[in-house]
Amino acid sequence: MHQRNYDSAHETGAAGFRSVRPPTSAPAEGDSARRAGSGLRSTSRLCSSAACDLGRLAIGLVREAGSVQYWGFDASEPWIAWCRKHIERSHPSFRFVHVNIENELYNPAGTTLGDDFRFPLADGHADIVYMWGVFTNMRLNDARIYISEISRLLRNGGRAFLTAFVEKNVEPESINPVGYVDYECKVPLHVVRYAQDVLFSMFAEHGLTVEEFAYHGGTHCNQSEIYLRKVGGPVSSPRDQPSMTARRN
Ligand SMILES: C[S@@+](CC[C@H](N)C(=O)[O-])C[C@H]1O[C@@H](n2cnc3c(N)ncnc32)[C@H](O)[C@@H]1O
Repeated sequence: MHQRNYDSAHETGAAGFRSVRPPTSAPAEGDSARRAGSGLRSTSRLCSSAACDLGRLAIGLVREAGSVQYWGFDASEPWIAWCRKHIERSHPSFRFVHVNIENELYNPAGTTLGDDFRFPLADGHADIVYMWGVFTNMRLNDARIYISEISRLLRNGGRAFLTAFVEKNVEPESINPVGYVDYECKVPLHVVRYAQDVLFSMFAEHGLTVEEFAYHGGTHCNQSEIYLRKVGGPVSSPRDQPSMTARRN
């Protein structure tokens, strides 16, 4: 993928998007996608499980990777509807699915995430799982369930990319920690920070190896970048019946 094309894809392809939120971090996101998806091919299966966010990544991929098989899940129903209308309709290998999961900030009326939740994709289906800015606004217990899902969704050897607020020697989970970021936390779950050892233990428990950890304390909105690889080992325990509905209405 080429960064300049990625940016222009956002400018031209998502006119409505700009009025909602400018794609300020699109260059960084494009770069992360390139690195997580080294070897990205038109046949690659990429799951942006959570946070397709008006298709920011998908729009770049349409331009750069053509017919990649993409699934984007998000807790925001209007944003999923927008992505279907503006992306999926003309690029059917890009699919968008609403997951009605409660998030105090983005989807307060959703259903509580349970241990038996799973995304509507088969085990080992994804080459790449991508979650920019998801764990940053998610309770630790929900993150644990999503990490289990990352492991289940990835094929052996597949890679995941995510960002998180991660620090050493802090409480396992801190909601809107005072003085941590250089902006005011005005809304619930504006910033959710995890202890590094707790988060990394969850990865290990689910057979996910940290291949790269770019710590950004004090910069880059403090979001650190984490690249994982599925190395086999214990995968999430079988969960036959999902408790959540992921609707394609
Ligand atoms: C900070 S935005 C980041 C979006 C996108 N990755 C980006 O960087 O532009 C957080 C996104 O996560 C979604 N979200 C929050 N909780 C979620 C959950 N449990 N499952 C799926 N999506 C979720 C929100 O609706 C929102 O689109």
